Parts: sequence; C-alpha cells; structure tokens
Amino acid sequence: MSNYSDKTVLVTGANSGLGFEAARQLAEAGWGKVILACRSESKAEAARARLIELTDKDPYSLLAVDTSEVASAQAACDQLRERGERIDFLLLNAGASGAQPKFNSAGVEITWASTLVGHHTMTMNMLDGGLLSPGARIVIAGSEGARGNLPGMKVHDIEKVAKERFDGDRVTAIEALARIKGPYRFSNMDEYVTAKLVVAWWAAALSRKLPRGMTVNAVSPGSAPSSGFARDAPFLMRVFMLPIMKIAGPLMGMAGSIESAARRYLDAADLGDNETGHFYATAHRTKLVGPVGIQTWPEYFTDEAAQEAGFAAVVKLTGVGLPEASSVATA
Ligand SMILES: NC(=O)c1ccc[n+]([C@@H]2O[C@H](COP(=O)([O-])OP(=O)(O)OC[C@H]3O[C@@H](n4cnc5c(N)ncnc54)[C@H](OP(=O)(O)O)[C@@H]3O)[C@@H](O)[C@H]2O)c1
Repeated sequence: MSNYSDKTVLVTGANSGLGFEAARQLAEAGWGKVILACRSESKAEAARARLIELTDKDPYSLLAVDTSEVASAQAACDQLRERGERIDFLLLNAGASGAQPKFNSAGVEITWASTLVGHHTMTMNMLDGGLLSPGARIVIAGSEGARGNLPGMKVHDIEKVAKERFDGDRVTAIEALARIKGPYRFSNMDEYVTAKLVVAWWAAALSRKLPRGMTVNAVSPGSAPSSGFARDAPFLMRVFMLPIMKIAGPLMGMAGSIESAARRYLDAADLGDNETGHFYATAHRTKLVGPVGIQTWPEYFTDEAAQEAGFAAVVKLTGVGLPEASSVATA
C-alpha cells in the first residue's frame, strides 16, 4: 500500500503502549481512518484525545471490544457493519498477562483469551460479513518468547502433553493448556509465550484459508520494556529485571523503543500478497531488537500439522469456525 488516505485500519489495544504508538504512526502516515478498538469506549475516547494532541489530526474513530470475550468481539463487528466500515488493515495487537490466573466467561485463561479469543472471533466475523477489503492485511502480535529461549519464559511442550495425556491429540492438548488444565503449574510468562506460539500457528493456518490477495502474519514487535505490558508481570520481573532491561537492554540488543516496536506492525502492512502465513521476529536468534526475519527456528513454527492444530484449538476455545462463505477458500 502506498496511498493510505482512503484506507481504514483497526487497532486493538490502541489506548496503551504499542497499539497507541501504532495508531499515532498510522495517522502520521496518512491513513484515512484509524479505528481505536479499546476495552471500553471511554478508554478509546481518552486515547483519541491524546492522539489528536500529538498528531494534530483526527482520523480516529472509536470501538469498544473486550478481546478476551467472544460476545464482545461479535458485538464490535456488528457495530462496524452498522457503520458500513471496510477494514484494509486489521492490527490485532491487544494482549494482557495477569500474575494470577483469571478466566474469561468460557473458562479460557486471560493471557490466552485476550490474545486469541476476541482476535480470532473478530477475524472470522469480518470474513463472514465482508468487513475486510479484498486486499486486507491482518497482523497479530507475536513474541520472540515463543522461540522458547528466553529465561523465565518456558514454552509448554504441547507435543509431549498431547502424547502423554491426549493420545497425541494436539488440539485437545492446546485447549487444556489454555484452560490451565495441563500438567504445568500456572506461570503467566509461560502461558504468555505458549499462547504466542499458538498465535504464530494460527496465522500460518489461517493464511491457507484466506481469499487470494488477503494476507495474515504474526509479527513480534520485539522488546519495548517501556510499554505497559509488564504491569502485571511477576514481582521480581517488575522490580528487578525491567529496570535493568530499560537501562542495559538497548546496549545488548535486548530492548528498544516503543516507536521502533510499533513500526514493525506498519512495515508488515506493506508486505506483498505472497508474504503471508509467516511469523516475523528479530532475525538474530538471541536478540530482541534489530532487523526482522521469518522465523523457521525452532522447527515447530513450520510444522503444518501443528499450525492446523493451533487453529483448530482456537476454533474450539471460541466456538467460532471458519465461515462457509464461498469467498473464503478452505485449506
Ligand atoms: N512490549 C513488549 O516488549 C512486547 C514484546 C512482545 C510482544 N508484545 C505484544 O505487544 C502487544 C501490545 O503490548 P504492549 O507492550 O503495548 O502492552 P500494553 O501497554 O499493556 O498494551 C496492551 C493493550 O492491550 C489491551 N488489552 C489487554 N487485554 C485486553 C482485553 N481483554 N480487551 C481489550 N483490550 C485489551 C490493553 O488495554 P487496557 O489498557 O484496557 O488493559 C492495552 O491497550 C501485546 O500483544 C504484547 O504481547 C509486547
């Protein structure tokens, strides 16, 4: 995309951190309409006021959505339909991670739900109701943590859980993990990176089901410790690790600015029609900022059966499947 003036972008989690900064950059880049999708209309309105002050522009409109709840995501899409919106860039950025386990109304843990449940539901609903433009770009926030090599963040071994407890059925294993019914003790950072692995799988599987011309990618913004993300991190991480990350991180390639993190989302919206189904993150395996590349390591990112299992698990967690409309090709 080069001229954005007649284009519409929807950003979830637009009131804070990377979502807010992405909304600012999108307005600066000339996007005609920037829909601020936030947990409540008052949060979206407050974000809009701050954005107008910062950009001296007002392409912003508001949408209330709780991305951890199916019903809220459906209602948000109904509103968009009533308003006659057509989305060119769907930026699924929202995500939370609570120190204590909390669950959505269907029993899905909130780290998983806020990242996957509403975002999947919105995407399916939009596909069903023609809310996405034919060349739409869908970007969902991933994380380098899904590579499984960050201290204090363990990606659950889904294959092992499937083999040992569910006759090899990875869909049921993922569902159990998202409901904290797996064999692991709850740790929000472990849930976080495992949910982000499923995000990468979901995007890969969805790319095979979208109409030609639409793309979907998972994109890690890298590490931006100044966002609000760590507000619910474990005590030690908040009090010791984060201040260290903020000071020493930039020198070690382990932390960067909110601006450059959000920029990764915008760059992904400009990728061509053939760049789809990938997980983009920092190319260097042990760094969290710098140039991005398609992640093929660990091998589980490119395991097609695992990707499909990830997508199927999210369908089960939400009860929302791929629309049957003939415009949406199945894998
Ligand atoms: N910052 C990093 O280093 C980093 C690294 C890798 C990936 N990410 C990803 O980047 C994305 C944005 O995070 P951030 O760093 O910008 O953190 P943030 O400042 O905490 O922003 C998170 C946003 O998500 C919203 N959100 C969370 N749960 C929601 C729900 N159920 N319904 C609606 N909105 C919800 C929050 O709304 P409220 O204000 O209402 O809670 C907030 O606007 C997340 O997906 C995160 O996993 C961040």
